[in-house]
Amino acid sequence: MSVRKAVIPAAGLGTRFLPATKAIPKEMLPIVDVPTIQYVVDEAIASGIEHVVLVTGRGKDALVDYFDRAPELEQFLAEKGKDDLLAMVRDIAEKCEVIAIRQKEPRGLGHAVLAARPAVGDEPFAVLLGDDIFDADPPCIRQLIDVFEARKQAVIALLEVSDAQTSAYGVIKGTPLAPGLHQVEGMVEKPAPGTAPSRLAIMGRYVLPPDIFPLIAATPPGKGGEIQLTDALDRLRAASGVIGCAFRGTRYDAGDKFGYLQANLEYALKRPDLAAKLRPYLRDLVGK
Ligand code: G1P
Repeated sequence: MSVRKAVIPAAGLGTRFLPATKAIPKEMLPIVDVPTIQYVVDEAIASGIEHVVLVTGRGKDALVDYFDRAPELEQFLAEKGKDDLLAMVRDIAEKCEVIAIRQKEPRGLGHAVLAARPAVGDEPFAVLLGDDIFDADPPCIRQLIDVFEARKQAVIALLEVSDAQTSAYGVIKGTPLAPGLHQVEGMVEKPAPGTAPSRLAIMGRYVLPPDIFPLIAATPPGKGGEIQLTDALDRLRAASGVIGCAFRGTRYDAGDKFGYLQANLEYALKRPDLAAKLRPYLRDLVGK
């Protein structure tokens, strides 16, 4: 069965970006002028996804509004003859079906994915975490879907990180399967420094069979007292196998202040209208 649905957990409080996130969902913070959530939804659409399930929480209504039509704004832009902006604003609401479900309590990533179950049903689905932004061709989640379709096992994105970084991620133990692919033999969520099974860290992209749902439901709270997706995935691995995919492309950690600044600068440098001014400006700035 093809992968038609994507779950995007977006219920987190975004405390790393306070005070900005006191009144704005962190997913609405822009990289240049596009909210981070839009990059993630665009990646899903470019990968063939037809339905996006946003798992939101209290204070996240701006996300649902963002993917809705905006009649007053559209009328204003139409009257002013701003046709390009009008088309852009309409397109956001039109190009994909977005369903929102609330995670009623902040009980972890596994719990957030489980909240999407009524909208996903009995079919394989993608999970995209909004803190991870990928610049990749084909898109990162498409690369994982291709592996899922060929090998019929759950697939997770992997990136080799430094020893010092392993404690910030889910980390796998695996054996090479094919170029860029690893058969996962175990995984641990945020291992204590010095105890990671490898330097292969899980990035925020997953393609999962619906069998993950009962496994999440049976997973007790783990790291940080939260229901961890990594723990449920380790059970899935034991039952039917999980493949790790070292994706081709660049990943930005937009959930971290420095990663967010990096993404802003690099995406701005890709924009001809901004690059012409920004490049010499940055050169002068570091020369000071
Ligand atoms: C989550 C997952 C972790 C994964 C990471 C990728 O952690 O629990 O396994 O490595 O995303 O960004 P979080 O960063 O939400 O704490």
